[in-house]
Amino acid sequence: MRRLLLAAPFAVLASPAAASTGVPVNPWVALAYLVSGVFFILALRGLSSPATSRAGNRFGMIGMLIAVVTTLLTHIPEQMCGEFGMCDAGPDWASMSEILVAIAIGAVIGLITARRIAMTAMPELVAAFHSLVGLAAVLVGWAAYLNPGAFGLLLPGSDISAVSKVEMGLGIAIGAITFSGSVIAFAKLSGRMSGSPILLPARHVINLGTLAAIIVLTALFAMAGPSETMPLIVALTVLAFLIGFLLIIPIGGADMPVVVSMLNSYSGWAAAAMGFTLGNTAMIITGALVGSSGAILSYIMCRAMNRSFISVIAGGFGADSSSGGGEAKEQRPYKQGSAEDAAFMLEQAEKVIIIPGYGMAVAQAQHALREMTDILEEKGVEVKFAIHPVAGRMPGHMNVLLAEANVSYDKVFELEDINSEFAQADVAFIIGANDVVNPAAKTDKSSPIYGMPVFDVDKAKQVFFIKRSMGGVGYAGVDNDVFYMDQTMMLLADAKKIVEEIVKALD
Ligand code: TAP
Repeated sequence: MRRLLLAAPFAVLASPAAASTGVPVNPWVALAYLVSGVFFILALRGLSSPATSRAGNRFGMIGMLIAVVTTLLTHIPEQMCGEFGMCDAGPDWASMSEILVAIAIGAVIGLITARRIAMTAMPELVAAFHSLVGLAAVLVGWAAYLNPGAFGLLLPGSDISAVSKVEMGLGIAIGAITFSGSVIAFAKLSGRMSGSPILLPARHVINLGTLAAIIVLTALFAMAGPSETMPLIVALTVLAFLIGFLLIIPIGGADMPVVVSMLNSYSGWAAAAMGFTLGNTAMIITGALVGSSGAILSYIMCRAMNRSFISVIAGGFGADSSSGGGEAKEQRPYKQGSAEDAAFMLEQAEKVIIIPGYGMAVAQAQHALREMTDILEEKGVEVKFAIHPVAGRMPGHMNVLLAEANVSYDKVFELEDINSEFAQADVAFIIGANDVVNPAAKTDKSSPIYGMPVFDVDKAKQVFFIKRSMGGVGYAGVDNDVFYMDQTMMLLADAKKIVEEIVKALD
């Protein structure tokens, strides 16, 4: 009796059986999953600022550890089968060694990948990881379909309930879309496939038709008898893989970060759908957190770029934008300066605001920039960094690079916190940024960036603008009036090279 009581917390599981047989969920398991959910929320909170992101990561790891250990411990000893009628609901201790070996292999691969990956390759790594989440959802869905007894999904008449089949169908469909979509996003971001949009004729009709077919197949699958379900679930899986592919190929390489964040959201919903199938509260909580945070991030990125989410998903924008091509521009007079000119004026300044952008990432100029900042501060100049929410090509791109170069967080400011300070700045130092300082966003209704909030660099007394040539354009491919302002001096060179020259001149 005592043994039974001790084992009881692990005997009544947060398992499919618990969900479908009406057996109450073990309160200890539910509590442990709730605690892991709280840690995941703390992780998201921590990751919202570079200063707390390490703590956020640690909270995430603790939450995941609690969830994994709880899941592994929710095994039902064989002698308890009769008591609870749930023999095959939990994992078998006999499989534990295989599970631990799989966890160890995954951990080693994760560790090596995380150590080797360059910061600029982070979006493609995230896309690759999402593809695995999607594939896992498909495999779990198929496993539950092929062996429903092991997941506690069998009704007395040897069939799976319609509700479970809907959850299964949704999980497989969202998982398959996430998988093939993420594989294409990975291929485009890593340069294994052209970043240009591939526009099929009548693609919207094909996509809508395929989506409608998936919905109809899910409904038919839920209503079909045990002997009729196999062709339906096969067709559903194949079509879902196909639509993931079709949805992502028309999207231009530069829009991929929004797509990656959207796929992140999908992977969360796929996990949540599987959580319902498996009756696993931790998966439902985590899936919902990932699903909603990914959706919110996609929305924030679209708003900061002044693009509608629908227009990103519909695709076709941003073709070759990162290649620096663009329409021929009218010749307007501009002033060009040298590293020595810049060094002289920076030295005289009291307040300098640096605006980094995509070009700083391309040139990997962050370390040289940190060195320049240190020298200026030693000379008594106040230096601040102004970061636009969509500067670069991924969320937090500039923050990550500046953190890598050990620029202290208290010098780094968001757009809304620093924009009013340009009026008091002696120098606005624009390094590889373009669209995020383009005043056309405020004044030209016909501009593709109209409505995007931008830095008021025109209010600074002196502007230095680093880019390689007057011909190159930013992501949006439009000319920038800042080049031609009276107080602007163009520094036409590779960002790293010119900053190193400025450092030399300052020394
Ligand atoms: P962009 O507008 O893309 O401008 C990049 C600038 O860097 C260009 O002026 C380019 O001119 C210069 N450049 C490139 N390589 C350089 C190098 N090696 N040395 C010096 N300069 C170099 O950058 P931004 O201001 O950061 O704006 C970001 C844009 O990307 C926005 O339009 C945003 O909407 C979009 N976007 C952002 C995200 C996220 S989440 N951050 C996602 C998708 C799209 P040259 O070619 O003449 O050198």
